[in-house]
Amino acid sequence: MSNGAPAVSDRNSLSVGPDGPLLLHDVHLVESLAHFNRTNVPERRPHAKGSGAFGTFETTQDVSQWTKAALFQPGAKTDMLARFSTVAGEMGSPDTWRDVRGFSLKFYTSEGNYDLVGNNTPVFFVRDPMKFANFIASQKRLPGNGLRDNNMQWDFWSLNPESAHQVTYLMGDRGIPRSYRHMNGFGSHTYMWVNAAGERFWVKYHFRSQQGVQGLSSDRATEIAGEDADFHRRDLWDAIARGEFPQWKLFVQVMPYEQAKTYRFNPFDLTKVWPHSDYPLHEVGTMTLDKNPANFFAQIEQAAFSPSNLVPGIGFSPDKMLLGRVFAYPDAARARIGTNFDQLPVNRPRVERNFYAIDGNMNYEQGEMAAVYAPNSMGRSYSDEVGRVDNGWESDGEMVRQAYTLRSDDDDFSQPGALVREVFDDAQRDRFVDNVAGHLLGGVKGDVLERAFAYWKAVDPTCGERIEQKVRAAQAEERNPGGEADEAKGDAEAGIIVEPAPTNGTY
Ligand code: HEM
Repeated sequence: MSNGAPAVSDRNSLSVGPDGPLLLHDVHLVESLAHFNRTNVPERRPHAKGSGAFGTFETTQDVSQWTKAALFQPGAKTDMLARFSTVAGEMGSPDTWRDVRGFSLKFYTSEGNYDLVGNNTPVFFVRDPMKFANFIASQKRLPGNGLRDNNMQWDFWSLNPESAHQVTYLMGDRGIPRSYRHMNGFGSHTYMWVNAAGERFWVKYHFRSQQGVQGLSSDRATEIAGEDADFHRRDLWDAIARGEFPQWKLFVQVMPYEQAKTYRFNPFDLTKVWPHSDYPLHEVGTMTLDKNPANFFAQIEQAAFSPSNLVPGIGFSPDKMLLGRVFAYPDAARARIGTNFDQLPVNRPRVERNFYAIDGNMNYEQGEMAAVYAPNSMGRSYSDEVGRVDNGWESDGEMVRQAYTLRSDDDDFSQPGALVREVFDDAQRDRFVDNVAGHLLGGVKGDVLERAFAYWKAVDPTCGERIEQKVRAAQAEERNPGGEADEAKGDAEAGIIVEPAPTNGTY
């Protein structure tokens, strides 16, 4: 039983005679029912469905000229945990729906936990944290009917044109990875690295899959969603179980600190990538995942990642999204898991910590007679540095509510336009046009649809035209009975089994 004493039976509850009423003092039954009712913790609000594994990060190159962080010193090997996820669906939703994928990493370093909570895309939908909750609400469900709704997704995207780069990426082949093993990961934000001499650099992280980047067509992904909602979870688990350990190589782009001030677009804008021609990739090391969780709930559901977990030699940047996230994640973990979520084995640092927060629900750490306050004269150490911090930046000005100051090349459509025209080939562009048109045909209407056409024409006039024509042609077919749309209607009835009128009353 829960108190450690032997349970009399795990098969039969205590009753008055074999057919009689149950007894409240059947402690084992009551404990079992009560614990069952509390089996779940709330699911993550975004990124609810995910999978994870443990592994090692090994620094194979010398990047000490840019950071003093212990985990990135040559030869360092650091235990780590990775969790991959979809964003919009709930905990049981299909892995193969078109969506951005989360790419969360926790490094248990010798200087404390370092978390890099990124995605499989280098950019994001919005650039101000004020918009985040609204964005997620538009991807989730309508309050009235509890259904997801393409119209509200496009309403949000088309009213927030900074989303164009991310939505273009999402509607391309990378919008549905073949597996979690076959996708790249990105820190997405710009972060700071600080070297031993105190010099600062801006960096962007890129994890390149050594399995290759592979995607699924929309049709295949839809089939799989019906056949096996856990397709990606199963793939990751099975690969590791059979000894095929997935690997990613980490590269960084490095921008000298001062260059950020005059670069042609804002290098802290999360909707932009830094061209590799300006800032090439430098290899850092290799991440290998080689251990499945022993208990999915304890180690993956209860894992709490946060961009606020930094170690010496790494800092934030003036990216407003990143600064908003630094608050959001530990707060979510306190609400979702509990005040002392960081005492759980999967979350606790592997180094001893000396932290002055005390008590709270489910507190496990024993302070015994040590001082519970700082400063103290009882011998418990505390920190007391003053002055400039080594991973900060200069800042001054009036307090305003305003978007970032625009620079010469700051606009929402050039980079997604270049992605469509210069990175996609003809076949990729065709699939992209089909994917967007298909999504728009899933219930987007009226002004929202018109705005969506304008949005895509701003990204790329040719593709925008093609998208509009495809959608209008399909809508015309639907209004014109007897055409293809009628056949499609027939298909919708296929596979429906209608029972004959009941012949007897047993069921
Ligand atoms: C202001 C912007 C954002 C806010 C407020 C925010 C907030 C959150 C919250 C509250 C969670 C759930 C955490 C939990 O319950 O443990 C979450 C999960 C997640 N977010 Fe964000 N998010 C933001 C932007 C982003 C961006 C830009 C990225 C990627 C670059 C990102 C990647 C993720 C990932 C990967 C997870 C899943 C973490 C896990 O595996 O446990 N988020 N986010």
